[in-house]
Amino acid sequence: MSTFKAPKGTYDLIPPVSATFLAVREAIAAPLKNSGYGYIETPGFENVELFARGVGESTDIVTKEMYTLTTKGGDQLALRPEGTASVLRAALEANLHKAGNLPVKLWYSGSYYRYERPQKGRYRHFSQVGAEAIGTEDPALDAELIILADQAYRSLGLSQFRILLNSLGDKECRPVYRAALQDFLGGLDLDEDTRRRSEINPLRVLDDKRPEVQKQLVGAPMLRDYLCDACKTYHEQVRELLNAAGVSYEDDEKLVRGLDYYTRTTFEFVHDGLGSQSAVGGGGRYDGLSEMIGGPSLPSVGWALGVDRTVLALEAEGIELELPATTSVFAVPLGEEARRLLFGTVTELRKSGVAADFAYGGKGVKAAMKAANRSGARFTIVAGERDLAEGVVQLKDMESGEQEAVALDKVTDEIRRRLG
Ligand code: HAM
Repeated sequence: MSTFKAPKGTYDLIPPVSATFLAVREAIAAPLKNSGYGYIETPGFENVELFARGVGESTDIVTKEMYTLTTKGGDQLALRPEGTASVLRAALEANLHKAGNLPVKLWYSGSYYRYERPQKGRYRHFSQVGAEAIGTEDPALDAELIILADQAYRSLGLSQFRILLNSLGDKECRPVYRAALQDFLGGLDLDEDTRRRSEINPLRVLDDKRPEVQKQLVGAPMLRDYLCDACKTYHEQVRELLNAAGVSYEDDEKLVRGLDYYTRTTFEFVHDGLGSQSAVGGGGRYDGLSEMIGGPSLPSVGWALGVDRTVLALEAEGIELELPATTSVFAVPLGEEARRLLFGTVTELRKSGVAADFAYGGKGVKAAMKAANRSGARFTIVAGERDLAEGVVQLKDMESGEQEAVALDKVTDEIRRRLG
């Protein structure tokens, strides 16, 4: 062991678990690639002001959880705590919205950083796959994204997750509700911190988990009763489209998200096997974000799914993904001449698309066969001096245990035939 360990709240992805991570990322991305979303990659850090304005000055993410730094050149940067603000910034910068083809549909996959108190399922470095549909107001787009996330989870075999759905209103009706809620909260017996929060972001107070606060919230005005007709109609259409698609969800009027940019549709995917960090994904509409970061009006919607938590959800449901063995053929040379020839065979196999590996380091036959076993390879090719004198190698089927001499110059074809 070295003197160093992974920093607090982080962990390394190592085989074989890392293969599951890759498979999860691919499973989430697949329905997006299949639905017109193009891949985007943005830097791991941005100007700190982008998140302050985008995610919101009053959010935990911006006030407590950002990794900020000042560069030697004096720039104030932050490691990205989320992807939406960056993706929208990039789309605006590249003028994608002006190409006359709205919505601009983008997907991404990467590392995000939040200085949170680490616990199971909550890390300081974590991984998301996300999608953003920029520049169009259409309930079918909100529904599309929810359906695609549902499809991604189901393709992994997950079933113990629920979709929570809410509408947060728009710039017409939310301020009216906000004022009514503030009025109500003003009459309660709240501690200093909560009082301050109710001034900056009263909706977050509804989210307070403490029983003494929840008790007082009985009878609080509910956003549902304040939604304007346009928001109500919009939300109803999203719900109908989900119903028609056979995607079940729960209306959760207490769902407020931890980022300030949301308007109208908001949703969260929660998994019941994960304990307190149960949100495996979340998202919603952010019709005002573009203007908040200096762009034109571009109503948009998106989500991000947490890869780490999705892997935990698989574990919680006892799902082992059927991952194809990484190596199909393992070559075991016995002696110098065999080493030279089998290395050539391995190279040939690889070129023809067969995953092959080799017993390196001049191992004895016992150690080499152990390595072949560990590799999970379906076939091993063993060759010693006597075989080579006859121009053959021993092809062993690791599943049946059967072994057969095959001409060295035919072995690649034979293996490809057997692998189908
Ligand atoms: P979020 O809800 O903050 O939304 O994060 C989305 C998902 O990332 C969470 O549901 C969770 O699975 C995962 N996640 C967040 N923080 C952590 C953490 N500390 N450790 C492990 N996993 C974590 C967003 O980030 C929005 N940008 C989503 C969005 C996209 N909204 C619109 N477009």
